[in-house]
Amino acid sequence: MSSPSREQWGSRAGFLFAAIGSAIGLGNIWRFPAVAYENGGGAFLLPYLVALLTAGIPLLILEYSIGHKYRKSPPAAFRQISRPAEAIGWWQVAICFVIAAYYAVIIAWAVRYIGYSFGEQWGEDANAFFFGDFLQAADAPGFVSDYVGGVLWPLIAVWAVVLVILALGIRNGIEKANKFFIPLLVVFFVVLVGRALTLDGAGKGLDGLFRPDWSALGDGSVWVAAYGQIFFSLSIGFGIMITYASYLRRRADLTGTAMVAGFANSAFEILAGIGVFATLGFMAAAQGVGVDEVASSGIGLAFIAFPTVISQMPMGALFGALFFGSLVIAGLTSLISIVQVVIAAVQDRTGMRRVPAVLGVGGAIALVSILLFPTDSGIYLLDAADHFINQYGVALAALVVLVVVGWLLRRLPAFQQHANEASAMRLGRWWLICLGIVTPLVLGWMMVDSLRAEFSENYEGYPTSFLLWAGWGVAAGAVIVAVILSLLPWRSAGAEPIEEASGSAAEAGVGSGSGSGSGTAAIEEEKN
Ligand code: ALA
Repeated sequence: MSSPSREQWGSRAGFLFAAIGSAIGLGNIWRFPAVAYENGGGAFLLPYLVALLTAGIPLLILEYSIGHKYRKSPPAAFRQISRPAEAIGWWQVAICFVIAAYYAVIIAWAVRYIGYSFGEQWGEDANAFFFGDFLQAADAPGFVSDYVGGVLWPLIAVWAVVLVILALGIRNGIEKANKFFIPLLVVFFVVLVGRALTLDGAGKGLDGLFRPDWSALGDGSVWVAAYGQIFFSLSIGFGIMITYASYLRRRADLTGTAMVAGFANSAFEILAGIGVFATLGFMAAAQGVGVDEVASSGIGLAFIAFPTVISQMPMGALFGALFFGSLVIAGLTSLISIVQVVIAAVQDRTGMRRVPAVLGVGGAIALVSILLFPTDSGIYLLDAADHFINQYGVALAALVVLVVVGWLLRRLPAFQQHANEASAMRLGRWWLICLGIVTPLVLGWMMVDSLRAEFSENYEGYPTSFLLWAGWGVAAGAVIVAVILSLLPWRSAGAEPIEEASGSAAEAGVGSGSGSGSGTAAIEEEKN
């Protein structure tokens, strides 16, 4: 089934660290606290938990199963499920290309802010410093007209680190990097949260985050926000977990690993919420205002609120270095996984070796990233691309996967069987119900809801002409590129025949309850 030379993780722990490293990213540290706060505080934890259990973990198991069964990157894996489905895989690859290009620049900002924490260069006005002095952002979105050296060089450094790690391979690069970075991140974060909890006003901040507003549970948009957070945070719908699982050995506990990765990601996320809001409580107390006046989301939180806090607290420089250092580490391990999807797809399709693929494909993403984002329009491009590619890329691709694999091809029972053969824990009917009914319905509702918002007013009030190319254009471009790539008549040097017919036959057996050979064959292969 798989090419004999396919790389493998050195150990189960190596895969687990990499999967957790991919999940824990910028989204956990700055996105979760703000989303939870804006959507009912403590009451948000209920929809969040429901989303984790009904969509997050079940989808992780599905992605692990697809990658593990076919031992291929998304395009080749979907191609083996059904020839036309290859386009879904390329769609995920195109989504990863876009996300990687802008994700890297946020890490580059954090790199600079580690240094700024020691000199407090932002002075009295962190907001003016960030947008004016540091980003040199234009007054309104538009085409790139100027480069910003202060963002350019850390971005080049970020790309150099990522490409070197990727060039070293799955075991010597990605696995070793995650085994080093993830424990370091945990240490940084425990110290950070411990310090935050001892600040004056921390309790006030935690009260702001966790005080439940139960009425929020009746609001559909709160549930949509919970599912959206789980998708982004667990990196579902990007094809990352299909790719990472394709390097697993045959003996692998898919369900158990998905449970550990899912819960570890959420535990980290909630820890981040506690740390961030304890800090905001300190800031609110110092300024004599309510927590609601200092709580902001995303970029505002990390690059504006935190610098302000750093200036106000004793030993702020160390606190800042830990916070921005955590952002850099969490971001790097996620970025590595995102770029690996594109590299693996091209390798599987062309038979290219790793180093040329990293230089060619990774280099191309780095070039786009370097050309577009360290510029006066970079922040606007990033904001629009991020919003549209997440809504109409990641989440929509997940919906399409479930409709195609679950409803049209009816392959969910086959993947359930595959996961059960490989794992210690058996998946019951709940898994089929979650992926076949609950999650597609919620995702479908998410699409309708966000399209309604999109057409009622322009995202962030940006001009329509800008949104047409930087937002809608990017999301639609990913689909068009995917279809073209899936139709190209290129063949991999080491390409294997599409075993749709044999796959279907095996699956038919699986579906009717007569165990397919894949599990036994897998164990045989492992013994060899
Ligand atoms: N899962 C990654 C994050 O949270 C993409 O940032």
